Amino acid sequence: MKRLNSQLQHDGAPLELILLIRTLLAGCKEISFRVSQGALAGVLGSTLSENVQGETQKKLDVISNQILKDTLRDSGYVKAISSEEEDTVVPCNPEGNYLVSFDPLDGSSNTEINSLIGTIFSITHAPQWMEADDPSAFLQPGTQMVAAGYVLYGPSTMLAMTTGRGTHIYTLDKTHGGFLLTHPNVKVPEETKEFAINTSNERHWEEPVKNYIGDLLAGTEGPRGKDYNMRWVAAMVGDIHRVLCRGGIFMYPFDKRNPSKPGKLRLLYEANPMAFLMEQAGGLANTGHGRIMEVMPKEIHQRVPTILGSKEEVETCLTYYQTDK
Ligand code: AHG
Ligand code: MN
Ligand code: MN
Repeated sequence: MKRLNSQLQHDGAPLELILLIRTLLAGCKEISFRVSQGALAGVLGSTLSENVQGETQKKLDVISNQILKDTLRDSGYVKAISSEEEDTVVPCNPEGNYLVSFDPLDGSSNTEINSLIGTIFSITHAPQWMEADDPSAFLQPGTQMVAAGYVLYGPSTMLAMTTGRGTHIYTLDKTHGGFLLTHPNVKVPEETKEFAINTSNERHWEEPVKNYIGDLLAGTEGPRGKDYNMRWVAAMVGDIHRVLCRGGIFMYPFDKRNPSKPGKLRLLYEANPMAFLMEQAGGLANTGHGRIMEVMPKEIHQRVPTILGSKEEVETCLTYYQTDK
């Protein structure tokens, strides 16, 4: 089976980017080990602190963030990082050529129930003009990403990654520590009968989402003429992995709960990397009002509504926004 290195070379990734990705993944392998130790290592449960977004940090949020921060800072390839668990950007090597944004542990509420969690990351070039502690350099649209992916800490530890030449999925072979290419050139099925949305938020949704989901729930008797199934992992990384593997639509739409939070998911280290993976696998990624990867970020922790998945289903969903029907 092909190794990560040779696939990255095959896809034309420059040597320094390959070395950076390998360094990042070394950190993820350590997170995978820590996660698997669970209660034995005393890593489960919450800390007493909150992150800048007002969320209580789990111990594993803090541990994972520290592992990635140390690994990337020491590597020399990175000028600065931004993370869900850091208030502002963390300067690294002033001579580094790349910026990395990451969600160190996505779905961390699942740690308590031994369910799916993962790390999500995106990589862009570091502009020459930027100072290493300048957050404005991170405010680039997703179209500028040179690589993005996630590592899913599930029954297997799996990596989904793109450098703009297709989306490939690898499985960590824990006997020798390498990521092996198990699912080359993943293509999301264009049609689906499966959706993922947290329906407990229905009363806060806008009309297009209410109408669209209402039509899915109507099944064979409704306008869509087929019965749908629903899944919700409560970790975007798990839901997107399922959609990449067997199709579906994943939504965390705008809702009216809190006007300062237009959608729950963060653009730089959740929505953008998943959008890049989805588009490279033939799927779509939209906010309801435009392509996610074309959103110009205004701040590093910006939130954005997300609709990702099978091409035809996302297109159908978007018609509800156009007509506001
Ligand atoms: P995080 O654990 O990094 O804060 O992200 C959790 C996110 C996302 O992964 C998931 O899709 C969503 O929160 C779940 O939200 P609900 O609590 O509404 O289910
Ligand atoms: Mn997350
Ligand atoms: Mn997180």
